Amino acid sequence: MEDRIQTLRADALDRIAAARGEEELRAVQRELLGKQGALAELLTALPGLPPEERPALGRGANELKRDLLAAVEERARELEGEALAAARSGAGFDPTLPAAPRVRGSLHPLTRVRREVEDIFAAMGYLILDGPEVELDQYNFQALNIPPDHPSREMQDTFYCDREGRLVMRTQTSPVQIRAMERLRPPLRVIAPGRVFRNEEQDATHDHTFHQVEGLVVGEGVAVGHLTGTLKSFLRRLFQKDLGVRLRPGYFPFVEPGFELDVRCPFCQSGCRVCKRTTWVEFCGCGMVHPRVLEAGRIDPERWSGFAFGFGLDRLTMIRHGIDDLRHFMAGDLRFLEQFRS
Ligand code: PHE
Repeated sequence: MEDRIQTLRADALDRIAAARGEEELRAVQRELLGKQGALAELLTALPGLPPEERPALGRGANELKRDLLAAVEERARELEGEALAAARSGAGFDPTLPAAPRVRGSLHPLTRVRREVEDIFAAMGYLILDGPEVELDQYNFQALNIPPDHPSREMQDTFYCDREGRLVMRTQTSPVQIRAMERLRPPLRVIAPGRVFRNEEQDATHDHTFHQVEGLVVGEGVAVGHLTGTLKSFLRRLFQKDLGVRLRPGYFPFVEPGFELDVRCPFCQSGCRVCKRTTWVEFCGCGMVHPRVLEAGRIDPERWSGFAFGFGLDRLTMIRHGIDDLRHFMAGDLRFLEQFRS
């Protein structure tokens, strides 16, 4: 019996040492030490032995079990070390290679330019306001002195949200002017960036959804010079250079007088693609707030005056980044968006 234990020990240690991998090692472990393994089988002989031999044999079997388990664990550690060394030395592992690049998201170009605009106006003391995209007809049109028969209310321009025509997708950010006057009392300086919607044919410069930035200043003695001066400082900070501006007459029912403001082309002196060879780029609609609009905002036009402007953020972003088609902004094409990683 002693001999059988010795033989089993020698044979078992050989097999453990010969195991070539973790899996094989565990299989050998089961065959030796499992419920139906070699050691268990050996012990089935125990009851048949003379009683005086049993304790020694039991002890021997226990020692063997302990020694084999220890041998298995040691071999397991050895195998682990070998596997690691193989992975490190073998092809495909080079600790000097840079790590795989992490794919990071980035801000949409419109968001970036909007934030630049907001920062510039915030630095000039303007509040940044928000307004609803589904707007009351009252705010989008009537309070802005746009009478019921005005062409900009025609069905082809406005998305109506109800049968009565009380609710519209706002066609401009100008309704925030009224909301601002109602909420804040003068003097006030605000901008209101946001999405606007028009039911128009889409092409490279028109989309049903686009973005405007509204500006409104109301104070005592506010005049046209403040309007042009403000927009000039804004453009200087945005384009990092002094750019001339000019006013042309423009008609918007909520301003009087109303203008179109052009800015000298930031990219050329003699005409280029951006300015369509004219050296001027149309920048925004603007003017002095119409007295009726001040009244709609419950502000006394005898005491207060103001200017307002509204420009297209999409167009400004196109100019800033040399983008040629407005429809890229809403298309969600990563090949376009990934060019604006910073
Ligand atoms: N709301 C006008 C538009 O959408 C722009 C504008 C704003 C004009 C403020 C004058 C004053 O075209």
